[in-house]
Amino acid sequence: MSGVLSVSELEIANAGKGVFSAFGDVADLEFESGIIPMPMSIPERFQDKSWMEPEFDPAIHLAIERPKKMTLLDFSEVDKTPEVEGNDKSCLAYTQAFRLLSDEGVRVLREILARNMDLVRSSERIPSYIRGLAHTSKFIRDLNECPLVLDVLSECAGYRVIPHYLPMNYAHTNFGMLPKSHDVKSVPVDQWHVDSVPFVLIIILSDMTDMIGGELQCIKRVGREAGFKLIEETKNEVSDSEMLTVSYQKQGYCLFMQGSEIVHHVTAVKKAVEPRITMVNSYMPANCFADDRTVYKTFLELGKEKESILEFARGRAWRAKTQLEAFATRAPYSDDPRPYVAFLTRVLSELSMTVDLLAAKADQDFDYFHEVAGDKYNETKSAESTKAGVDASRRSEEEITSLMKSEKPVLIKS
Ligand SMILES: [Fe+2]
Repeated sequence: MSGVLSVSELEIANAGKGVFSAFGDVADLEFESGIIPMPMSIPERFQDKSWMEPEFDPAIHLAIERPKKMTLLDFSEVDKTPEVEGNDKSCLAYTQAFRLLSDEGVRVLREILARNMDLVRSSERIPSYIRGLAHTSKFIRDLNECPLVLDVLSECAGYRVIPHYLPMNYAHTNFGMLPKSHDVKSVPVDQWHVDSVPFVLIIILSDMTDMIGGELQCIKRVGREAGFKLIEETKNEVSDSEMLTVSYQKQGYCLFMQGSEIVHHVTAVKKAVEPRITMVNSYMPANCFADDRTVYKTFLELGKEKESILEFARGRAWRAKTQLEAFATRAPYSDDPRPYVAFLTRVLSELSMTVDLLAAKADQDFDYFHEVAGDKYNETKSAESTKAGVDASRRSEEEITSLMKSEKPVLIKS
């Protein structure tokens, strides 16, 4: 998942600045949104299997140990992320790995995955993944929305965070498989990219004993543009000194990162006792006036995910509703209508942009560097030039399922 805001969206975020004196400058506004409720119905291709799973219980399924070290966007290390005022961005890059799940929590999540192998898909960027588990599992919804988890993540971010407004982004799961023996190139678990959602919590669900490869690496450059520039200039031969490799520790551990702000990838798995399984939960600032860094195009076009149409429309409607609620409950009396006009225009502008994106009248950039094709993502040429390489690492639903269900760990031949 990757992307940057288009210019017009940045303009929307700045609308009303300096005018809104009666209510406070828009840049300083803070009003926390609640978590968006699930839609009324389940998308057609999903089936609710919640009845087959236990009730989520933090006392049983979590074993949270708070991270003691954070790396900030300038790559300095701190014990605590500075708190953010107004709707400024968080300065967190990523936390050190910390324990999240109990052994029982890992077991239940793996069972949920095993029950949903019919949802395995491939994209040009990610060879094997599952999305949409929020629509099949109440346990997944409860884990993503757990107040104990949100408290820890909010502390790490430096402001309050909530689950991302696309339920499809709950528990996105990647499977890192070995290339087949006849493959010439090994394909990364995920290519160089920035995320299309502000924050991700990456949870390791597989046995990482003696694993070679499957590492999360970040480009050590401040800013997305600088990161991609380095990859292009070096023709994807970035030296070790220009990258940071982040340890996941082991099964049941996680790390929290502001993946929308740093270029990162996951290297190919070369040796492992079982497929590398990471569950990725997405989060966003609770403040409804923070810029929306969601890149709709990533889900609709790259992921071919029709469910994102309604979910994006609802998410933006929820933001507008919360912004209007802030206005209706907080705006003071004024003889000057201009602050009200500026504020309401801002809400209208974001909704207008939403309409334009849904109607394909506006566009958003997203960036990733395809390491097989050896080039930045390009819609016109990506499909053919990358197909062979991506096919190389795809695994059938049956193959992944059999590996996951094996009583003994399966050694994948290198
Ligand atoms: Fe990512």
